[in-house]
Amino acid sequence: MTTMADEARAESRDGRGFTFRAAADDGVAPGDMVVVTTPDGARLLGQVVDVIEPVGEDPLTGFGVVIGALDEEGAVQRGARPAFRGAALELARPAELGGLHGAAAGTMSIGTWRTGDVGAEASLRAGGFNRHSFLCGQSGSGKTYALGVLLERLLLQTDLRMAVFDPNADFVHLGSTLPGVAEADARRIADRGVRVLRSDSTRGEGDEPLRMRFRTMTRQAQAATLQLDPIHDQDEYNAFISFLAQIGNESDLGALLAGLRSGTPGQLSLARRMENLGLLEWQVWAGELPSAADVVTGGGAGGGAGVTVMDLGGFGDPSEPIAVCLEVVDELWAQRDRRIPTLLVIDEAHNLCSSDPASPVAQKLLDRLIQIAAEGRKYGLWLLLSSQRPSKIHPQILSQCDNLMLMRMNSPDDIAELGRAFGFAPKAMLQASNGFVQGEALLAGGFAPVPMLVQVRERLTPQGGSDVAVPLVGA
Ligand SMILES: Nc1ncnc2c1ncn2[C@@H]1O[C@H](COP(=O)(O)OP(=O)(O)O)[C@@H](O)[C@H]1O
Ligand SMILES: [Mg+2]
Repeated sequence: MTTMADEARAESRDGRGFTFRAAADDGVAPGDMVVVTTPDGARLLGQVVDVIEPVGEDPLTGFGVVIGALDEEGAVQRGARPAFRGAALELARPAELGGLHGAAAGTMSIGTWRTGDVGAEASLRAGGFNRHSFLCGQSGSGKTYALGVLLERLLLQTDLRMAVFDPNADFVHLGSTLPGVAEADARRIADRGVRVLRSDSTRGEGDEPLRMRFRTMTRQAQAATLQLDPIHDQDEYNAFISFLAQIGNESDLGALLAGLRSGTPGQLSLARRMENLGLLEWQVWAGELPSAADVVTGGGAGGGAGVTVMDLGGFGDPSEPIAVCLEVVDELWAQRDRRIPTLLVIDEAHNLCSSDPASPVAQKLLDRLIQIAAEGRKYGLWLLLSSQRPSKIHPQILSQCDNLMLMRMNSPDDIAELGRAFGFAPKAMLQASNGFVQGEALLAGGFAPVPMLVQVRERLTPQGGSDVAVPLVGA
């Protein structure tokens, strides 16, 4: 049934919002798209914002917003309309939703839009990723899978440079497609030349080492790696500065340490500090190899912008991957004036964007990510973050996100917090997220034509690199 009972009626005092009344069994829900036909014959596309559940035989009532007028070609002319009364109301059909994007290029099909009782094509504006985006949902709701869908679409339809911070090796196959994928898509994804950087213990064929260089870190990042404070550790900090002057082009920490051991008392305690922190045992030092920052900021295959997946697992010291991330984001920031459009993708973002960082290196990384959240847009540095809980993300980062993808979420507190942080997402649609099944998502913000309830499409590339199967008896 795509039509509602004949008596469904809408009226609007300002041509922007409308109230409506429909039969109790019309089953209209928040987020549904409707077509309002006014007595003077204008056809308006609207969206239901909320409904008031009827009592007994009462009609169902609710309110919505006017998105725009449907013209004869089916395009949507956005904006407010004259006030109306006694307009007829029916659920929109897929053909009436197709005009929402207008003639704008760069729409990315990410799944099926559920509105009323129909499934329409759900498309995002690829250009809408020039904002920070937040993907949220409880564990198992399908965030990582959906993030993969977004990345695949961005690979296919944009030339964005991407740096993917991948804590669980979920994106190490982003460059290869599953059997049955259309040939043109498979070729385009292969041509993007996704580079996968991993630790020594996890690296497989085709992967490259994930490394960093002490010498090219910022001084603050170096001091944080050494857990050195310029005030509390005055003598050592001073030895550290003279040590920096000696580093020159030397990238072998071992050789530098030998020099420090035979130096002044300050240099000696700096050497002890490095030994005690176990910095020499870090496998992450690049030596002669390219650093992750070199790979991310270098060009991609075929001269286009590069796509780099950094698998952060498999290191002996938890500070190693954090330090690599810090060097990469510092370098992207240092090169910001080049204004190369870049998406920084962080899955499980509560690890890197926590309001409660666990170490000085993590604090420096957080500081830089806050800066990118606040100022990155004007340099083309955009964040795409995924996490289970909005409250675990630093508020100065969360508040800068203009795109929301919300998957199943049970906690009313978290939903309320999202309502505060993402005022553009209708409350009733946010609340519906506790009934979502896996793969269902609310999409709202600059990248969505209107807030949409979507079942995400199937993946083109395999998810995960490290699933271990349960051994079954007799199998
Ligand atoms: N839309 C989907 N279609 C098919 N499988 C899915 C879908 N979403 C998630 N899955 C599978 O369900 C499991 C959990 O999803 P995942 O994306 O890892 O959840 P999350 O990151 O939210 O914890 C994974 O094995 C994933 O492949
Ligand atoms: Mg996940």
